[in-house]
Amino acid sequence: MCSLEGKTVLIGITGGIAAYKICELIRMYKRAGANVKVIVTPNALNFVTKLTLQNLSQNNVAVDEFDIEDYKPEHISLADEADIFVIAPATANTISKLANGICDNLLTSVACAYTKTIYLAPAMNCNMWKNKIIQENLKKLAGLNYKILAPESGFLACGYEGKGRLCALETIFNATVDLPLKGKKILITAGGTIEDIDPVRYISNYSSGKMGFALAKEARALGADVTLISTVSHPDAIIVKSALEMRDAVLEHLTEQDAVFMAAAVADFRVKNTAGQKLKKVDGSDEITLTLVKNPDILKSICDTEHKAIIVGFCAESENLLANAKEKIVKKGCDYLVANDISRKDIGFGADENEVHLLHRDGRIEKIEKASKEVIAKEIFKRIWSINMN
Ligand code: CTP
Repeated sequence: MCSLEGKTVLIGITGGIAAYKICELIRMYKRAGANVKVIVTPNALNFVTKLTLQNLSQNNVAVDEFDIEDYKPEHISLADEADIFVIAPATANTISKLANGICDNLLTSVACAYTKTIYLAPAMNCNMWKNKIIQENLKKLAGLNYKILAPESGFLACGYEGKGRLCALETIFNATVDLPLKGKKILITAGGTIEDIDPVRYISNYSSGKMGFALAKEARALGADVTLISTVSHPDAIIVKSALEMRDAVLEHLTEQDAVFMAAAVADFRVKNTAGQKLKKVDGSDEITLTLVKNPDILKSICDTEHKAIIVGFCAESENLLANAKEKIVKKGCDYLVANDISRKDIGFGADENEVHLLHRDGRIEKIEKASKEVIAKEIFKRIWSINMN
């Protein structure tokens, strides 16, 4: 979690059903150490209570412009104080008022007086979202000091299915804070490649994809734009099967990347002639011979290709871990190598935990003690980018 110590976050809530979700958003900012102030429109109070918001934000909740506690006009002082200003959920009504400079409540007045970026997260019925007037108004705001955090598709509270659901709270949070990997593009491969023998059989390995998924989750939490290429099903991944497919997918995305994590267990060999039909037993023969040919070494080929990315390889060794790993980082030419000892049953392949050594190109080796793959992923990012987060 990043630190927002000393920062004031202003959250404007308007009158939509997604207003209840903002209770959790307040907690996210509080957990990060921010001073959170909340303004609600009068309609928002039909969905959440002032008491709930006051308790969560540990501040007075402002509704009315004329409810002034001290000599300063509230719409000016709230605008001046806020380091981050989010309006979520933003209804079609408030969006249209903002786009037209209408200041008929405290929230719209503060927004009008705010000169920095305003993060606007719309949420509404899908037909309202498609309405040309609303789209025109959003376009106008996007050309000004507003950053629009587009709604997602799915089941809507009104019973319709379509675009209009408030985007994930993590999306709002990550967009508004300065995360250490914000703006960085990171490609991560996960899982073991699958090399077909015939339409029903294949050669593969025990990789579960868990380490790659943990890396992808952490990279996203640190603000990176992640391209996940996996052989194992995952909602955010580009799914591939064989080493050749993985190579093509990696090369297609390579040029724009700031870092590549080759966590996948790529098969070194594939079957030379994959059978088009299921292989049958042959009467009188107790053996079958499969000829294997070498797969391309994806990691080595990206290290040899012109690129601007930090390249991180992973190696799985069943003996002589560090000696093999030291040789491998030189042979492959990557910047870092994460070495796994697969002789141990409690860590590595398929397990939820891992214990690794992080080899640097300059010869340094750091041991990352046994922990969940999520914690290992955090440690890897911390060490590569010298991230110091609370
Ligand atoms: N790798 C790759 N393409 C291959 C084989 C491996 O990109 N054809 C990558 C893996 O994703 C990993 C690193 O190379 O990041 C090391 O993988 P590993 O299986 O430990 O090493 P190999 O190169 O296969 O060497 P060996 O099997 O001889 O130990």
